[in-house]
Amino acid sequence: MFNARITGTGSYLPEKIVSNKDFESILDTSDEWIYARTGIKQRHVIAPHETTSSMAEIAANNALQAAGVDASEIDLIIVGTSTPDRVFPSTACLLQNKLGTGDCVAFDVQAACSGFIYGLGIANQFIKAGGAKKALIIGAEANSRIMNYEDRTTCVIFGDGAGAVVVEASEETGILSTHMNSDGQYQDLLYVNNPIKDQKQDGAQAYMTMHGNDVYKVAVKTLSRIVDETLEANGMVKSDVDWLIPHQANIRIINSVAKKLKMPMDKVVVTIAEQGNTSAASVPLALDKAVRDGRIKPGETVLMEAFGGGFVWGSALVTM
Ligand code: UT7
Repeated sequence: MFNARITGTGSYLPEKIVSNKDFESILDTSDEWIYARTGIKQRHVIAPHETTSSMAEIAANNALQAAGVDASEIDLIIVGTSTPDRVFPSTACLLQNKLGTGDCVAFDVQAACSGFIYGLGIANQFIKAGGAKKALIIGAEANSRIMNYEDRTTCVIFGDGAGAVVVEASEETGILSTHMNSDGQYQDLLYVNNPIKDQKQDGAQAYMTMHGNDVYKVAVKTLSRIVDETLEANGMVKSDVDWLIPHQANIRIINSVAKKLKMPMDKVVVTIAEQGNTSAASVPLALDKAVRDGRIKPGETVLMEAFGGGFVWGSALVTM
């Protein structure tokens, strides 16, 4: 049986940056409030000609290049997204066509902010079962397209972007374990209405709604618990983890999970100030940043975790 190993990472952020100050003229909000409550200073926003699949394409090509893998070798593509270009075909199919991989398994995972972790977990199972040898896992989101810019409780928080990894079958150690979970009883705390169902209403659009404070409380508890569960499943202790890559939802949530892990903040990859919350893209964007700037080195142990609408949450413990 092979292990599944991350052999390359890549990412993409749209050029346009919207600062907290930019919101002050259109909303009853302030740079001070946003930064103090979330840790966010700015976010990237997709251009009109761009889509989730076009961002995913750039991130995927960067990851392929880093892994030294040609697109034609890829036999599995999983895109974690809640903002697909179309209802169907999947963004993964559109990406497959853009990359020119040839025939392969390609599908989207809709697990909100945990979409990338779910994708990584599924790819891990595929590779271990012999169903794939070289996979592309992407988290990509055009969150700005599901924002109500009159709702200050959501639109200042989310940003756009894409992150990708190549995962290959390997005899070396790689993904140590992945953990996925969900609890649908929280469906009304964080959701996007269904534009297909609602389109009969005049002017209905898909918008995100978040009861932030309620989400916050469950997120802190759940993420702290999953950290323990992940380490326990691997017979490891907190000090065995070299890097924490948390979902970038709120700096206060990140701080409390790091504290629980007894992890100094210089061992936690934090991108929220520059990128905001990019949902499924946030973990692979942070991973790529820390790999490319030389912080994360081969052989180091990385704990990734995410939490989002559903609720749906997950983690991955990985030797790089
Ligand atoms: O990625 C998926 C998972 N998502 C998360 O994990 C997000 C978790 N939640 C959070 O990060 C935080 O709850 C938020 C950042 C969303 C909100 O922070 P909070 O400290 O929980 O604030 P709150 O919702 O309790 O609101 C406090 C006050 C309210 O005013 P009143 O009722 O006290 O008068 C809000 O209306 O802040 C107000 N408020 C704002 N004020 C200025 C809400 N949004 C804004 C805003 N600017 N943008």
